[in-house]
Amino acid sequence: MIDFLKTGRTKSYGSISDYYAGKSVFITGGTGFLGKILMERLLFNCSEIERIYVLIRGKKGVNTHNRLQQMFDVPVFDKLKALKPNALNKVIPIEGDVTKPELDIKTSDEQKLIDNVSVVFHSAATVRFIASFEDIMKVNFEGTRKVVDLSKKIKNLETFLYISTSYSNGNKLIIDESIYPQPKTIDEVYSFIDNYGDNSKAINKFISGYPNTYTLSKALCENYIDVNRGPMKSIIVRPSIVTPVFKEPLPGWQDSWVAATAAFSDVARGLTKVIHGDSNVVCDMIPVDYVCNLIIVAAARGNPTDDVIVYNSCSSSCNPISWKNGADLYLEESLSHGKYELKPRQVEVSSSTLMVNLMTFILQTIPSLSADVWLRLKGEEPKYIKMQKRAVLLRDLLKVFTSTSYYIKSENSQRLIETLDEEDKALFPCDPRTINWQTYMPVFYRGVQKYLLKPSH
Ligand SMILES: NC(=O)c1ccc[n+]([C@@H]2O[C@H](COP(=O)([O-])OP(=O)(O)OC[C@H]3O[C@@H](n4cnc5c(N)ncnc54)[C@H](OP(=O)(O)O)[C@@H]3O)[C@@H](O)[C@H]2O)c1
Repeated sequence: MIDFLKTGRTKSYGSISDYYAGKSVFITGGTGFLGKILMERLLFNCSEIERIYVLIRGKKGVNTHNRLQQMFDVPVFDKLKALKPNALNKVIPIEGDVTKPELDIKTSDEQKLIDNVSVVFHSAATVRFIASFEDIMKVNFEGTRKVVDLSKKIKNLETFLYISTSYSNGNKLIIDESIYPQPKTIDEVYSFIDNYGDNSKAINKFISGYPNTYTLSKALCENYIDVNRGPMKSIIVRPSIVTPVFKEPLPGWQDSWVAATAAFSDVARGLTKVIHGDSNVVCDMIPVDYVCNLIIVAAARGNPTDDVIVYNSCSSSCNPISWKNGADLYLEESLSHGKYELKPRQVEVSSSTLMVNLMTFILQTIPSLSADVWLRLKGEEPKYIKMQKRAVLLRDLLKVFTSTSYYIKSENSQRLIETLDEEDKALFPCDPRTINWQTYMPVFYRGVQKYLLKPSH
């Protein structure tokens, strides 16, 4: 156990916002799902923060400056703009790309970071499970290596915080808040990529028990930080499956179709009626605001030890909900709104692939085929089989998660949360034990409808 966490609150309580007062931070991945909430929460709740430097690459012909302005048009920033209109002026874009040599940051920008930053939050990554192994290594591993190199040059760095994933050790069923031995050497990984590229059979053998190459890459990043952090005080926060905002700044907000979001939505749209697993398999969800609040709190409390501190931000070990239960609650809410593509029903769950395939044919393929025939008869373009194929692809991609009950421990995180007074607990809700899933799942559903599927659906 980490000693300072055992001791709990100090005599003169240091609030989270006090920690950030007058300090500047550097965020990579600030334009992403987590990054936007992290930035908004810092600006909203830590008003005295000096500057937030954000690494942004030019993309699809839009330059860094315009991308930042476009990001501020996202509704999560509406409340901040209305109540604290000057706060956004504190955000300074730093043009750069984690795949380029030395992040491709201008020398003058690098100097600004070296001179001014107190905390680095490294969130940039590709979370596309289907990206090529080579690309995943390039963005996640090489990107982390470069961000670590830059961070080590920062003069007054107090904390380097890396956002990993709870599944970085997804080859284990019980996952502790510690760094596990490195699964492969970097040479082994690159020599595998040179020889086999994206040969999926060879990859499955190579990653031996890891859910995918993404999770393996995150494990390699953790090991890299552990060995190469030098004098940097380092923290790793590992979120599990990140889901829409629960509370602030905008309940239900979400901008990415990942994992549980896409899976539950397919159930409610009547596209998925059977999933792999059994009815008790735990779906380790955690709302994005809970993750970002824990990140903010963890950096503020710092790391007084010489080791890397790991915090799992997850629900399986302290407030579990099953995939089946989550899908049923989501469906219940959706039925009360009566919006779907094909008539939905409660999901069937089976650990037999044969049974899943058979039920898929009966419950999904036949109704989709019939609906397409009906569309053709009306002279319209068929679409249901196409949607069906996509839903099955996603469901199968998530098979390892829907059929494996991971138990992800979170004692370090809970001890960290206990260092907060009631006011900070309310300002930075991050305790998964306080989530009532019956309340959350309707928020989740409405958010997906509003922010992802848009009103036409
Ligand atoms: N979402 C989850 O369920 C989940 C769960 C566990 C852990 N995590 C971890 O949380 C972190 C954030 O994930 P997220 O969900 O926010 O992902 P996301 O929405 O896909 O955002 C990824 C961020 O990384 C940036 N990025 C990617 N490639 C880059 C490059 N070459 N140079 C500079 N920036 C680059 C993206 O910038 P662009 O806007 O330019 O693309 C974006 O800001 C990741 O480290 C991920 O592994 C996520």
